[in-house]
Amino acid sequence: MTLFRLDASIFPDQSVSRELADIVEAEWTAAHPDEQVIRRHVGTSPLPSTAWADAVVGQQVPQDARTPAQQAAVELATTLADELIAADTFLFAVPLYNYGVSQHVKTWFDILYTDPRMNEGGPELRGRPALLVTVSGGNYGPGSPKEGWDHSTSWLQRILVDVFGLDLTIVERRFTLVGVNPALDQFKDMADAMRVEALRAAEVEGRKLAESDARKAA
Ligand SMILES: Cc1cc2nc3c(=O)[nH]c(=O)nc-3n(C[C@H](O)[C@H](O)[C@H](O)COP(=O)(O)O)c2cc1C
Repeated sequence: MTLFRLDASIFPDQSVSRELADIVEAEWTAAHPDEQVIRRHVGTSPLPSTAWADAVVGQQVPQDARTPAQQAAVELATTLADELIAADTFLFAVPLYNYGVSQHVKTWFDILYTDPRMNEGGPELRGRPALLVTVSGGNYGPGSPKEGWDHSTSWLQRILVDVFGLDLTIVERRFTLVGVNPALDQFKDMADAMRVEALRAAEVEGRKLAESDARKAA
């Protein structure tokens, strides 16, 4: 069994998404102590944004006609696709930045999606279990003033579920900037409850993810 983990926080040392994903990973590792975790941290080790166009164009010309940059980009896409195909289970820890995913996450997906295996919808990935940890400084829940402004979670769901066919569970924590941004002080009780619920959900859903893998391995 292999777990693929993607992190995207640009402040990993004080990251809520990392904290929650660490809980999920700990549950998985407890059930699979000697098994592999493939990691990619696009927040601290971003992929080159120019690689996307090079990979798109590079895929359209014969290998011996590619520029060195195009060849490197095609190879990078192959590596990213290999990482996903090698995994049985997936963990994505992605904060909301500027009402969407960061350029780092979009670049990862854009390069990955130039690989012909992914471009066909990643048939190898269909039905595999995945957990998305999504966090945001504000609250975008039903009835909130900015309901519908979180274009990260909805986009990730579209890609992970509808494009790649993953069996996705989401653990979310909103209002992470309560206690940091004084304008949000009135929401302290709500934010505290959301924090407790997110920590509980990470543990419960992490254990379920690990147990479903353990059943498959048996
Ligand atoms: C550059 C930047 C942009 C952000 N944009 C948003 C945003 O549009 N909406 C929001 O609710 N929070 C936003 N936040 C807050 C983050 O979502 C929040 O701090 C989250 O906890 C970050 O994830 P992390 O704790 O895993 O690092 C932003 C934070 C940064 C640094």
